[in-house]
Amino acid sequence: MNDYNRLLLENKSWSQERLEQDPEYFNKLARVQTPKFLWIGCADSRVPPNEITGTKPGEIFIHRNVANLVINTDLNMLSALQYAVEVLKVEHVIVCGHYGCGGVKAAMSNDSFGLINKWLRNIKDIYRLHRDDVNAIKSEEDRVNKLVEFNVIEQLQNLSKTTIIQKSWKRRQSPELHGWVFGLNDGLIKELINIKPGAEIDPIYRYDHFEDED
Ligand code: CO
Repeated sequence: MNDYNRLLLENKSWSQERLEQDPEYFNKLARVQTPKFLWIGCADSRVPPNEITGTKPGEIFIHRNVANLVINTDLNMLSALQYAVEVLKVEHVIVCGHYGCGGVKAAMSNDSFGLINKWLRNIKDIYRLHRDDVNAIKSEEDRVNKLVEFNVIEQLQNLSKTTIIQKSWKRRQSPELHGWVFGLNDGLIKELINIKPGAEIDPIYRYDHFEDED
């Protein structure tokens, strides 16, 4: 059997099991989505958001990219963020990195990987800010993991710099921002940083009023 055929067969049995447990399952699912969480995570296949948080379809709105970056010109991320915050009105935005992240590791090397260099450049900039702290660590694995943590913290701060988040904080005192790291070795999530709605941010990134179109 082809690998991709296995996925389609598994899908049939998954659908069947749902219906056996609850004949109304898909009627309910199709009606509306009211997730409380937006998840911005790494595209890594070993970090499936619903599975590691014990959540079901409909509970988490998900955006994933290489190394869970929040880049202020990324229309894909910004569109997901705007929809989640302004339309779905999520109460929590989670940036979840993971130890042993290949994107972070690649960014710490001097190897060229083609187009993705441009994406990983953002992580090199974070390394430059924390070079002394990272380089003080002996093992390479731990150095990567330290930068994984710095990266999550930086991306969470990037969220607070967006007008989408600042506007929502002002108008409905939500969402709260959470920076997490997932451990591939133990399957546990570590909480690194929380930013409450309305928190003080570096003043240069603060917008005092908003235009309609932003
Ligand atoms: Co990764």
